[in-house]
Amino acid sequence: METRLTTLLGSQYPVIQTAMGWIADANLVAATGRAGGFGFLAGAVMSPAEVEAGISAIRAQTEAPFGVNFHMYVPHARQIVDICIAEQVRAVSYSRSPDAATIARFKAAGIVCIPTVGALKHAVKAVELGADALVVQGSEGGGHTGQVATSILLPQVRDAVTVPLAAAGGFRNGAGLVAALSLGADGIAMGTRFLLTRESPVPEHTKAQYLNAVPEQIIVSAALDGLPQRMVLNPQLKSLMSASSVGLLLTAIKNAFAFSKQTGDSPWALLKSGWRMYRAGDDSLATTLMSANAPMLIQEAVVHGRPETGILPSGQVAGLIDNLPAVSELMEQLMEEAGAAMARLHGLRGDGTDSAGSVASAATGDQSD
Ligand SMILES: Cc1cc2nc3c(=O)[nH]c(=O)nc-3n(C[C@H](O)[C@H](O)[C@H](O)COP(=O)(O)O)c2cc1C
Repeated sequence: METRLTTLLGSQYPVIQTAMGWIADANLVAATGRAGGFGFLAGAVMSPAEVEAGISAIRAQTEAPFGVNFHMYVPHARQIVDICIAEQVRAVSYSRSPDAATIARFKAAGIVCIPTVGALKHAVKAVELGADALVVQGSEGGGHTGQVATSILLPQVRDAVTVPLAAAGGFRNGAGLVAALSLGADGIAMGTRFLLTRESPVPEHTKAQYLNAVPEQIIVSAALDGLPQRMVLNPQLKSLMSASSVGLLLTAIKNAFAFSKQTGDSPWALLKSGWRMYRAGDDSLATTLMSANAPMLIQEAVVHGRPETGILPSGQVAGLIDNLPAVSELMEQLMEEAGAAMARLHGLRGDGTDSAGSVASAATGDQSD
């Protein structure tokens, strides 16, 4: 299947595996590339050395193109930008745009800039800043998410910009791909569906919690880091939601120290990058401080396999997923389903073709010829 997205990214299918912190590792990205999709390495939670090692590990497994996700506010963001350019990765993704000079450097190096946006105004701004394509994520999506559903946001953005779009938020199969294409997208991007694959490094006990979740239980709350984020409502999230502001602040400080130990960035460097984020006017001071919670509590669930005491960011679509296929099986099935969905739609044209796209008279045994 060829669309403007496959041409831009060099993938076989218009299906992106999005970045997910501690989950979209080199193996998952390589598996996606081998299966014809386009994967993003979760560089936003990696040190520069880990990003470099991740890029080499992907290249050792496949020649398929891939991208790197990064966060411009982490203390070492500039080093990750330099690595992406030196390594000539095919694309970069981000949710807060880097400055115009950094985007210009990517573009001069021929690297595709494909940010994720969750609101119309952010889509327009991202294109003005130089984005080559957009991942348009509706509110069903996992992790930080906006307020407008995919079915509304996608046509809104389609009408406003001309760059290729990947629809995200709520996709898991081929019927979804066809629906997105018919709404004007050039492909889809999925997080939760790839989290629930055999290659995903999430421990089995935590995967089981995702598989057991029902859509009503996958809610949006700002209690983790001060920004609306979609997560499974588990005991840990309930306790964050009922904590006092002082309790939340103390939890955030404890987690900030634990995270700085883990990354090797001093608490001072973390504070400075938080301050830069605050000064840039992107977030309130409370949000900036609370952002320290997310890395520790998410890792508790998705790395250490303790979903009861950790946080599980998740798209609502987890409520519809009940299996753990290999990435290659997932992609094969998805493209088969897309073919079947297109054939079925073709049959609705009322021009005498049946649902399989063949001539109705043949199907009904009409022998008039
Ligand atoms: C567990 C989890 C971790 C995520 N981590 C990141 C991240 O590090 N960077 C990012 O840009 N998006 C992150 N996201 C958002 C996804 O990349 C993607 O946009 C979203 O999952 C799409 O919606 P879906 O889950 O309905 O497919 C995360 C999502 C999940 C579920």
